[in-house]
Amino acid sequence: MLRRREFLHRSAAAGAALFARKFSPSFFAPSSAADSRIEVLLDEPFGAISPNIYGHFAENLSGVIYDGIWVGENSKVPNVNGIRKELIEEMRKIKPPVVRFPGGCFADSYDWRDGIGPRDKRPRRTNFWAAEESPSSPAAHKYDPNQFGTNEFAQFCKLIGSQAYLAANLRSLPAEAFYHWVEYCNSPAGSTTLADTRAAAGYADPFNVTFWGVGNESWGCGGNFTAQEYAVEFRRYAAWLPVYGRPLSLIASGPNGDDASWTRGFLEELVRKGKSQVHSVYGFALHHYAWNLSRGRTQNWVEGKGDAVNFDPVDWYELLREGQRMESMISNHWQALAEEDPGHSIKLVIDEWGPWYKPGSEATPGDQLEQMPTLRDAVFSGMTLDIFNRHPEKVAMANCAQLINCLNSLYLAHENKFCVTPVGHVFAMYAAHQGGQAVRSVFNAPGIHYDRDGKPATFWALNGSASLHDKNLVLTVVNPSVSESRETQLVLHAAKIKSGSATVLTHSDIHAHNAFDQKNVVTPQTKNIDATSGTFVYNFSPASVTKLVLELA
Ligand code: AHR
Repeated sequence: MLRRREFLHRSAAAGAALFARKFSPSFFAPSSAADSRIEVLLDEPFGAISPNIYGHFAENLSGVIYDGIWVGENSKVPNVNGIRKELIEEMRKIKPPVVRFPGGCFADSYDWRDGIGPRDKRPRRTNFWAAEESPSSPAAHKYDPNQFGTNEFAQFCKLIGSQAYLAANLRSLPAEAFYHWVEYCNSPAGSTTLADTRAAAGYADPFNVTFWGVGNESWGCGGNFTAQEYAVEFRRYAAWLPVYGRPLSLIASGPNGDDASWTRGFLEELVRKGKSQVHSVYGFALHHYAWNLSRGRTQNWVEGKGDAVNFDPVDWYELLREGQRMESMISNHWQALAEEDPGHSIKLVIDEWGPWYKPGSEATPGDQLEQMPTLRDAVFSGMTLDIFNRHPEKVAMANCAQLINCLNSLYLAHENKFCVTPVGHVFAMYAAHQGGQAVRSVFNAPGIHYDRDGKPATFWALNGSASLHDKNLVLTVVNPSVSESRETQLVLHAAKIKSGSATVLTHSDIHAHNAFDQKNVVTPQTKNIDATSGTFVYNFSPASVTKLVLELA
């Protein structure tokens, strides 16, 4: 494991960039009845929240595809054409905008041509992740049976009402294979031989895939390139692709962690062929995993990790601090991109994010990289989605890693067992933000102080995001304190409230999680709010994610 991670060049930077409070407490002093205050500035919209920041990621990795999504048409597990039915039903509830497939690192060893045509004729190939599988893992996790390929993925996306985001293989396939994949997916019925091949499989209509990744983590598993070498490859792969009347949105591989020298190096080399080259990049990928819970003791990828379920309050805050680094990453790379792209035609695509713990908490023992999401991960996810909402002009897409049976999963499944995790419930709550107008919200609360192995540490006590949808205001709020509720004055300038509801996800035990036999331990609860005036007091429970939906008069 360590050797592979070294190969991936996982960033070990433990930058001490602690979240800085933006607003002076004295300026936004809370009322005497409450120690905290949230002010929503309804007349300060600052961008539309792209639904795509609520996107997902499903890699052909251990139990994600085989067992998680794909059970096969002949399975006893209820399915729609081989795809797990319960997953389809749950996903429809969260309005999934986009799913990234087939990787991740897997993408740069995948030949899409293996995954089309009659399923019984498809080859078996050694999975990128095979070496890390345990001897008892199912064969499909080690030797890719290619039963779930482009057609099945397109069908999955259609069933859940999502767009597809395909990651092309830059490390081990030529550019020709890439443009043939685009041709297979997008050429009109009857127009090309590949369109006929698609039709023969039962898909006459094109899949119309807009989002294409050009490699993945090209600094590591995606080819071990330098930023400059990768830029040359990117230009070549992007130089010609068939478009069929709809422009493609190409996503370039971003840095290892927060390494802005990759970002600068990539852009500098890209524009060596002319400034207009920036227009070939729709999105620049950032990946951020919160993994180092060692409290500064080590940067070692294995030793620095914490446990998913057994943790103390300090681990809780440390994870959130690691996750909060997302906000400075967004700002840093946005600035770095601006040096060659001052008009910001390139947006950020955060196509992998979430906590990453050490092995041991798998719902299905043996599933590689699977971990048990707890209330801590729900709070982490709410906090992260709020960060994206606060940067709508910068973040065009984000994809939580990963959808099912993996890291920060929304769902866990094994054979006929299935459950929604606390992270899945957060996605269901936050779906209400999709497509809204982000409006400025100002949070003022006393900070959280804790002891970090003898040294004082702090974390913010209340944060969130707000969006307007005609007359409806959606305000999501995270209270990260493991023990303190926050009596908070909410101020909506110049607004009266017709009706309102609060949906709260919390639990008295910060380790709480759902499981196959205990599916509803952590579930959101909704109740009406009795508020008519634009100013009211609300009590945010400890360790909670809250969504307020307020219909304005
Ligand atoms: O999400 C798991 C892996 O993490 C992905 O395959 C890779 O891109 C990243 O290193």
